[in-house]
Amino acid sequence: MSTGRSSWGSNGGFLLAAIGSAIGLGNVWRFSYMAYQYGGGAFLVPYVVALFVAGIPIIIIEYGLGHKEKGSSPLSFARINRRFEWLGWWMPVVAMFGIMLYYSVVIGWCVNYLVFSFHLDWGGDPQGFFFKQFLQISPSAAVIGGIRLPIALSTFLVWVSCWLICSRDIRHGIERASVVFMPVLFLLTIILVLWSLSLDGARDAIMNHYLHADWSKINIFAADPAVRGEAGRVWAAAFGQIFFTLSLGFGIMITYASYLPAKSDIGKNALVTALVNCLYSFVAGFAVFGVVGFMAKHQGVAFGQAIKGGPQLAFVVYPKAISLLPSMNVLFGVIFFLMLIIAGLTSGVSLVEAFVCAVTDKFDWPRGRVVFLVCLAGFLGSLIFTSRGGLYFLDIADHFITNYGLVIGGLLECLIVGWVLKASILRAHINLLGTRIPALWDFFIRYSTPAVLAYLLYLSLAADLGRNYGGYPAGQLIIYGVGWMLVCLVLALALTLYPWKAGKLKRRHRPEEDKLLV
Ligand code: PHE
Repeated sequence: MSTGRSSWGSNGGFLLAAIGSAIGLGNVWRFSYMAYQYGGGAFLVPYVVALFVAGIPIIIIEYGLGHKEKGSSPLSFARINRRFEWLGWWMPVVAMFGIMLYYSVVIGWCVNYLVFSFHLDWGGDPQGFFFKQFLQISPSAAVIGGIRLPIALSTFLVWVSCWLICSRDIRHGIERASVVFMPVLFLLTIILVLWSLSLDGARDAIMNHYLHADWSKINIFAADPAVRGEAGRVWAAAFGQIFFTLSLGFGIMITYASYLPAKSDIGKNALVTALVNCLYSFVAGFAVFGVVGFMAKHQGVAFGQAIKGGPQLAFVVYPKAISLLPSMNVLFGVIFFLMLIIAGLTSGVSLVEAFVCAVTDKFDWPRGRVVFLVCLAGFLGSLIFTSRGGLYFLDIADHFITNYGLVIGGLLECLIVGWVLKASILRAHINLLGTRIPALWDFFIRYSTPAVLAYLLYLSLAADLGRNYGGYPAGQLIIYGVGWMLVCLVLALALTLYPWKAGKLKRRHRPEEDKLLV
């Protein structure tokens, strides 16, 4: 019975780890900023539609596939057909080298800011502090500049943590860490939300900007083509966010599910992971809108002027608000950055695990050595993002990988599982295990989800061809964005070409399935 593969100690442990992967830096500010920019409460409509049309169907694919094939993503895809193994590699390679290299640096910033919180080091000008003193940002992406030592040191700490957690097997490493970290994360978040709600100006901001819906922003049937175009962008952003937030298209959920015992309720686990993650984002939004509302009122500026997107929300807007709090500023800062570190770390280890598991599956090298080498290579690779030009590279890499890398991964995943493995076969496997998936799911993953994802790609491509993302020169976009993805692709192809050990790709015999499929 034993395949020599580690497994989760309990289903609860698996769920905490999977939810830990899903809840990350993106839930706290990416979601909130999008909600503000894209119509407040009205954004929740495309968000929830995306959750049901793409999020839940694809998380079911990833859990089902990993559980059925009992392998990391390359092994699972190679077991469907060796021709698709490259996709199975591409996803964890993008996760590890496309995302984790900069994700670890952002967690590193949070570590630096946790320390700064103790003396509110950012002073009266958090924006100047962040860009000039902390990042010492170079004038443009063309100038790499030197490495910022404090950032490199905190990034090193992040990689050491990943190494310590991942070097043990899944049950004693990631599961144990998640069982401790996740309840702490939930607790810190609840404290922060309640605290934020009590601040002066919080309620107005929440009512007027978060829960208030601007329906015109999502009206894709509007008569005016300009309004329609804008609305299309909002829908695309909602789908992109669902992908990112549920950690889909990285091979992570495939890997995590491969460690599940034979009898596991896949349908229920998928639903719980997706719903808890999205509920978390919604709740965390109250803290973000509350704090920004407090700051806007305190400074007498409009809400729209106070809120900022991307890294600035956590590293400029929040520090400013923390300094303005009437009392216990230090405690608030510590809780906020600790929350980000925990949310980031539980996602980070999942990115490392997806790649480590893929390598150990194929090469049968000892796990400890693989984790050490992967974390060492990861740290060295991260150094580029700790340089003075790091923020530019991070911004470009993030744009290309979230808008193309993940979506292409998800699209191909749907097509391969929907048409080659056959959706009905995977559904039959899942339905044997507990919660039954309706036949409508087959339709989703064969037709509607891929169609929506293809449209999303088209929208992103049209926008990028229309004007250079972020105003960067084309050469830089091609090198740091497209080039980065091509390097990932070449690496994935090289790993695919290496032959499997004899017998490794054989499916395990499952008599109960045969019965079902005759
Ligand atoms: N889901 C995480 C978030 O919302 C992001 C993430 C990205 C997680 C990549 C794992 C891998 O922040």
